[in-house]
Amino acid sequence: MPNRHRTDVLVIGSGAAGLATALHLASAARVTVLSKDAIHDGSTNRAQGGVAAVTDADDSFQSHIADTLAAGDGLCVEDVVRFTVSRAPECIDHVVALGLGFDREGDAPHLNREGGHSHRRVLHVADATGAAMADTLSREASTHPNITIESGRVAVDLITATKLGAGSNRVLGAYVYNRETDCVEVFEAAFVVLATGGASKAYVYTSNPDGATGDGIAMAWRAGCRVANMEFNQFHPTCLYHADAPSFLVSEAVRGEGGKLLLPDGSPFMDRFDERGELASRDIVARAIDHEIKRLGIDHVYLDISHRSGDFIEAHFPNILARCLAVGIDMRSEPIPVVPAAHYTCGGVIVDLASRTDIPGLYAVGETAYTGLHGANRLASNSLLECLVFARSAADDIGPQLHHPASARLSPPDWDESRVADSDEQVVLNHNWTELRRFMWDYVGIVRTNKRLERAQHRIDLLKQEIHDYYARHRVTPDLIELRNLVHVAELIVRSAKTRRESRGLHYTLDYPRPAPNPVPSVIYPAADPLDVFQRRPASPQKARRNLAKSAAS
Ligand code: FAD
Ligand code: SIN
Repeated sequence: MPNRHRTDVLVIGSGAAGLATALHLASAARVTVLSKDAIHDGSTNRAQGGVAAVTDADDSFQSHIADTLAAGDGLCVEDVVRFTVSRAPECIDHVVALGLGFDREGDAPHLNREGGHSHRRVLHVADATGAAMADTLSREASTHPNITIESGRVAVDLITATKLGAGSNRVLGAYVYNRETDCVEVFEAAFVVLATGGASKAYVYTSNPDGATGDGIAMAWRAGCRVANMEFNQFHPTCLYHADAPSFLVSEAVRGEGGKLLLPDGSPFMDRFDERGELASRDIVARAIDHEIKRLGIDHVYLDISHRSGDFIEAHFPNILARCLAVGIDMRSEPIPVVPAAHYTCGGVIVDLASRTDIPGLYAVGETAYTGLHGANRLASNSLLECLVFARSAADDIGPQLHHPASARLSPPDWDESRVADSDEQVVLNHNWTELRRFMWDYVGIVRTNKRLERAQHRIDLLKQEIHDYYARHRVTPDLIELRNLVHVAELIVRSAKTRRESRGLHYTLDYPRPAPNPVPSVIYPAADPLDVFQRRPASPQKARRNLAKSAAS
């Protein structure tokens, strides 16, 4: 199998963001799409509630914009919100044209209601919207002659001109670990799109799949991109609490259809926290549940929709019903035990309206990006929408550049493993992985303090050193790649949280319990010299420069 590949556009990630970008570009370019495991391993496939978009005559862009801004608690970029909301209908039309059949009620789409939305506006396919979207996009992409999908490929790091010691910066491709061959390959491309999803796996309890380790954010930051708002990790209020069903989400749409949150004695409590009750925005509901769990010393609260008919529940929530029944809970007649869990990364790699990052040729789309849409707290079902809208933006920007290469092509050196040994102590990786996710939950979770953040920072410093040492001496494995990324992402979260001396949206700290005036996004700048964080071992930056000189001369 060749260990060098060349394509026009390399898309890292096969969720809604990556596949939608690939499909928009495929008529003009050869596109290669990578996924870490199977093509449907990302969060997209798990999405339940749906996609927010204004489709009803009684609804308006203005109302969707106002709800998004209110949820974002003063930190959304209004132009970006307007841009996204106003492009939603055409992006929805595109996926419908590809064959995505949203549920209908008579002549019109059936619309879900979710927290923070003042109208019913969430298009959905029962309670498995993401799986339907993933099926539609992947069916189209896998049959397109210009799209190659490579699964079982784990991107390790971006290759940039700066990393190779060349003059002006530009992305050149990526080093990618191939699970089948156990080798690191070179993917050269004039354009790279990061669509690697979020980083909620930094927390021990999460609704996210295993691969949500923030790889794109860590790779972009190491390559020299700015990253913003990493302190705003969203905790979904209602994940199923059951040992046999870790990380299963119970959609907000259940509350949208009248589901009540209850304490173990059967009493409701949300009205004590917000006049919107169960439909307050997610940060408020998750914090209220966390507060009640800690106050009463209980393991979970309950979500009860048993007042709705069995027929209604079977029609609207067939997957949630089936999952609950599989663990012995019949939501038609009894309440569901639920807890909050890490769900969505509102921050990420800073991009503009064209999805461009700080590095020419490098784009970021979907949960891995920070566009400014979500501010301090994402409005429910605005994420799939952001994937679709910014996939189109990226494609619109890349398309016209395809036939005008920005610079002479540099040929990156092969991955060099001449001075490293096989990974020999998996226990180190397992231990560090568990420790990191545990202290992130305990110290950097729903309620924070200065002291907890300091403790987390201290542990991150120790882990970072240990993981970097291990990385420098051993061949890469998927676990090592992910752990290295997780520790970088955890550091970005903690650094961002430490700079925010206020409570806002998803960031709540007992030391500064109120919002401050004139909030700004928290921006983390990369190391001044990206070579400082260039960890493509064992070749040193000097050796990389020599390699480059050789390849330029030959
Ligand atoms: P993902 O779908 O997560 O895809 C990431 C891709 O990147 C995967 O293919 C993965 O293999 C690949 N990847 C990652 N790292 C690497 C690497 N190093 N090398 C190669 N490939 C890599 N949002 C809504 O708007 N509505 C909802 O109803 C909704 N429900 C949700 C329910 C659940 C349970 C969850 C977890 C999330 C939900 N969300 C919802 C959020 C939404 O699903 C995600 O934000 C969105 O799907 C992210 O799409 P994405 O394409 O950016 O990333
Ligand atoms: C849900 O269905 O509750 C998830 C919706 C979202 O995360 O946007």
